[in-house]
Amino acid sequence: MYLDSIKIVNFRNHRKLDLYFTKGFNYITGNNGTGKTSVVEAVHTILNGKSFRQNQFQKLVNFNQDSFYLQAYLSKDDFNYKLSFNYDKNVTIYENGKRINNLSSYIYNNPILVYSPENEGLLSDNQENKRRFLDKICFYYSTEHLVVLKDYSKLLKIKKNMLNFNNPDTLYFQSVTEELKKLSDKIQNNRIFILELLNNKLDYIKHDIFKNIEDFRFIIQNSKIENSEYKEELKRRKILRGAHLDKIYVEYCDRKYESFASFGQKKSFSLASLASAVLIVEEILKNDIIVVLDDLEVGLDENRINAFREFFNKNQVFITGVKNNFFTDGHIIHLQ
Ligand SMILES: Nc1ncnc2c1ncn2[C@@H]1O[C@H](COP(=O)(O)OP(=O)(O)OP(=O)(O)O)[C@@H](O)[C@H]1O
Ligand SMILES: [Mg+2]
Repeated sequence: MYLDSIKIVNFRNHRKLDLYFTKGFNYITGNNGTGKTSVVEAVHTILNGKSFRQNQFQKLVNFNQDSFYLQAYLSKDDFNYKLSFNYDKNVTIYENGKRINNLSSYIYNNPILVYSPENEGLLSDNQENKRRFLDKICFYYSTEHLVVLKDYSKLLKIKKNMLNFNNPDTLYFQSVTEELKKLSDKIQNNRIFILELLNNKLDYIKHDIFKNIEDFRFIIQNSKIENSEYKEELKRRKILRGAHLDKIYVEYCDRKYESFASFGQKKSFSLASLASAVLIVEEILKNDIIVVLDDLEVGLDENRINAFREFFNKNQVFITGVKNNFFTDGHIIHLQ
């Protein structure tokens, strides 16, 4: 599936903007602050139900306005469809005029993956963002993953609240911990499985495509719940383990990369892991994935840019950048 056009109304700095896209590379260029990232953010919002850099819809509304509106025309195989996204204190989404109630299958049907300096996926500085990226691929693998995650956070909240009471019911606390363990184990098994798939794809990518990239791989440290630990948790008034505390690292030369990778290396790792994710999700969904590469060229050498260019050649890609040096034959959109 790919995006033919988008209408953006009162979204960040764009009051009203109509854009048409090509199936291949779309390069959005313009000076700092002209709204390049905002355009790809709008694309992500309408396809994925939320922004990739902002959790609060209200912050996406143009200053002095109350609501924003997005409309997109898409093509898949031989048919076209229209999506509309309206935020006016609440979100309403329509597909071909029909109100969407099941966001999970909506997201599943409009796959999009993003690299942005503000969302570096598995290379983020913050573990929550890393888990979110991995969970998204787990979700494409099995939509049940999202249901389990939601149940897990609900139960985790209950458990946290119990620790705020003076005298929590020990038996109840124990049974909540046991339930939480079941959900946590499920989430962690999915994560281990998908991370292994990612590493396998990375091996292939590093060997066949990005020959000049360092030999890195991902590791996950699962924070496994032990049923017996509930007593210690009650004593210390603290939740000690669970999937929400899982940590993901990049291993390079048998060390955790965090301490020494250069800017360009780190960015390449992030893009290569995105490339692996694209391969995995494409295999699962049998659908084309839309890819956003925000500020792609910043900090990458020519060889690496060309390698990524070649890799993403089959996808519909949205690239932003102040200066377009490498994609001059793509569809260029110049923002003023
Ligand atoms: N809610 C909002 N309403 C109006 N303008 C906003 C809002 N939020 C952010 N902006 C402004 O939107 C402009 C565009 O931001 P954006 O991040 O899209 O720029 P950009 O072209 O990607 O810049 P850069 O070259 O630095 O990456 C910025 O000037 C920002 O201050
Ligand atoms: Mg930007």
